[in-house]
Amino acid sequence: MKNFEQIIVANWKMQLSIEEAKKLARTIKNLATEKKISAKKKIVLCPDFLSLPEVAKMLKDSDLSLGAQDGFYEDIGAFTSQVSIRELKASGCEYIILGHSERRALGETNLTINLKVKAALKHGLIPIICVGETFTERQEGNKGTIIMHQVFEALQGVEVENHHQIIIAYEPVWVIGSGQAISGEEASQTAAMIRQSYVDVMEGRHTDSLGVIYGGSVDPSNINHFTKMANIRGALVGGASLKATTFVELIQNS
Ligand code: 13P
Repeated sequence: MKNFEQIIVANWKMQLSIEEAKKLARTIKNLATEKKISAKKKIVLCPDFLSLPEVAKMLKDSDLSLGAQDGFYEDIGAFTSQVSIRELKASGCEYIILGHSERRALGETNLTINLKVKAALKHGLIPIICVGETFTERQEGNKGTIIMHQVFEALQGVEVENHHQIIIAYEPVWVIGSGQAISGEEASQTAAMIRQSYVDVMEGRHTDSLGVIYGGSVDPSNINHFTKMANIRGALVGGASLKATTFVELIQNS
């Protein structure tokens, strides 16, 4: 991961109206300035599609970045309801969350995630690829296999260049929204496994392009359990990103 030391991504999911998203973005921006959050901590806000233009306006001329929660891999065409990654870039997005478990639960596959990663890099967006096991997969002892497979399939045939950045978020599905995060040690071990899978699929090339982050019930009191681990470069935050003071406190504690 280049240009910054840490990345904290807010995934607002489908939780806010356009007005609420605008207001939250404004308050986070003002608080981050007031608290002098270092530009070395990259803050990314990911509102829903409809709120993107308004939040983009709000973040203009700030150090905060805009991200989308998904996107479609074709640039243009008869794809009812889809939003192209090309247009997301034109709307001011720099990042895009791909393969979130809530998308996978609605039918997203490793194959479509792979196509979206390729489209994101083609259009100059930084993909945040989500991987993680369900509780059943974990109980059956398949956590490692599932995650290695997800990383491999998401990145197969992806042409990484030196200037590209790729973020992989380890989000144990069963932890999301539970209020009970896993330990920093487990997250760190899993991050090491994710990095190894990346190295294998990239055949040892472009290792500097990768940053692994953790997501799942991260809050101001536990964020440093993860960010103190050398191989975890930040967090993907759901619930705790919906209140400006909580989110900025989380960033300060990271
Ligand atoms: P919570 O932080 O609410 O557990 O959500 C995590 C998540 O899904 C972020 O993408």
